[in-house]
Amino acid sequence: MGYKVLVLAGGRSREREVSLRSGKAVAEALGSKGHEVTLWDLNEVSVGNIEAERPEVVFLALHGKYGEDGTVQGLLDILDLPYTGPGVLASAMAMNKVLTKKLLAYEGLPTADFLLYDFHGISVSEADIENVVKEIITELGIPVVVKPATEGSSIGTSIVKTEEALVGALRAALEYDREIVVEKFIDGVEVTAAVLGNDDPTVLPLIEIVAENEFYDYEAKYNPGMSHHIIPARISDRARQRAAELAREVYKVFRCRGFSRVDFIIDADDNPLVLEINTIPGMTAMSLFPDAARAAGMEFAELCERIVKLALEK
Ligand SMILES: Nc1ncnc2c1ncn2[C@@H]1O[C@H](COP(=O)(O)OP(=O)(O)O)[C@@H](O)[C@H]1O
Ligand SMILES: [Mg+2]
Repeated sequence: MGYKVLVLAGGRSREREVSLRSGKAVAEALGSKGHEVTLWDLNEVSVGNIEAERPEVVFLALHGKYGEDGTVQGLLDILDLPYTGPGVLASAMAMNKVLTKKLLAYEGLPTADFLLYDFHGISVSEADIENVVKEIITELGIPVVVKPATEGSSIGTSIVKTEEALVGALRAALEYDREIVVEKFIDGVEVTAAVLGNDDPTVLPLIEIVAENEFYDYEAKYNPGMSHHIIPARISDRARQRAAELAREVYKVFRCRGFSRVDFIIDADDNPLVLEINTIPGMTAMSLFPDAARAAGMEFAELCERIVKLALEK
């Protein structure tokens, strides 16, 4: 018997376009399985619309702010509507790269060395930037990666290979957020672990990501042919096993539910370092999570249905 499912996509985030694609793919897939599906752009509905619709479950296909960050999850909690993926707390923590780094460090989970900067309420002078640059050079060295705390899809992120480029990268990240993460650049193999489940989650086959660009930036992520998914990932069995274990640990530490994707870089010593957690990973048929599911013998529509069922589990 089919469920009455409301798929929410779009919204106000900078990842709106990608989210609309995820939403469309999910809605079609669930429709093909006989569910009664409605697809709405979050920008075009009110809280009243959602309440009046009274779906049995909401499939969240929202990426980035105002959707992947706990805001919509909180709204749905208040409305007492079950929804797919992690709840308020996990979503909010994973969306914030500063909190993510702090939590990983506290839990002793391996991640690239980092520095955190908070410029809230400060107009950043040339001298401030100069001091920050000095500290980065001393503490981390070059190359580093500079990221705003709360964007996804590599927006505002740059890889910095010279001291001169650091100022521009910091200014660019500051355009998006007053809080910035600077981390050591790890030259290694990028892999992602798709994790599916509630209390006893399963790690799907790891995928290696190879970008045509210098790194896995916005263009590489969303244009066909600009990145390649390699399954099985070309890494040692040891690294594969370790990354899978870590993915499960991270999933628990962040209190994820339903599904999430944990990204890693395997460094030159064969150690997986946690990059970040995506609590609503891309869900077009060509996205990473669906590819991992396919490698485990689960086609896209089946995966969407499984995620819905996990949302309805107590
Ligand atoms: N420390 C790092 N070393 C090497 N590459 C990195 C590092 N951090 C990020 N990257 C590259 O930048 C991309 C985006 O960074 P990520 O932390 O995943 O943020 P986003 O939320 O924007 O996806 C990664 O997929 C990876 O290619
Ligand atoms: Mg990422």
